[in-house]
Amino acid sequence: MQINILVGTMTGTAQLCAQEMELALDDGETRVATLMMDGLDSTVFSREGVFLVCTSTYGQGDVPDNARALYEDLKAKRPDLSHVRYGVFGLGDRTYAETFNFGGKRFDELLTELGARRIGERHMHDASSGVLPEETALEWCQDWLAKLKDHVAAG
Ligand SMILES: Cc1cc2nc3c(=O)[nH]c(=O)nc-3n(C[C@H](O)[C@H](O)[C@H](O)COP(=O)(O)O)c2cc1C
Repeated sequence: MQINILVGTMTGTAQLCAQEMELALDDGETRVATLMMDGLDSTVFSREGVFLVCTSTYGQGDVPDNARALYEDLKAKRPDLSHVRYGVFGLGDRTYAETFNFGGKRFDELLTELGARRIGERHMHDASSGVLPEETALEWCQDWLAKLKDHVAAG
């Protein structure tokens, strides 16, 4: 199984989470490629394997700057992503009550609109919770991998 982690980040927290998830998931049988979203466009979804969107939220509920080109390209080109299976590990802060975790939410809604299918629930990390995001990421991704394997086994 190949997992592509796509990282949207402003100050590196999502990248740290992605690194933890890569270490936890990459065991030889499951191969993981971590890609910063900088410079990516919608063609990234033609890569082999499943996708894990790991992104924070900025501005007023926007995706981070390095995720903008990919997000806008998907919105403009609207490729058929019905072959795509994905998960979302989102980061945000409940202090921004109106737009909490909207970065992950925006990707989730857009990918679903384009026909992709989400595996598991979208995680919403809260920076003001005191819970370390990289520790949560470690637990969450193992649960996600189990769900992914169930999905694959069910055909
Ligand atoms: C200027 C600024 C704007 C932010 N806007 C939001 C927001 O609208 N909604 C939200 O849930 N979190 C918001 N956040 C919180 C970040 O998403 C959160 O701190 C996250 O862990 C940062 O991850 P990163 O280092 O990967 O970018 C904002 C943070 C900053 C500094």
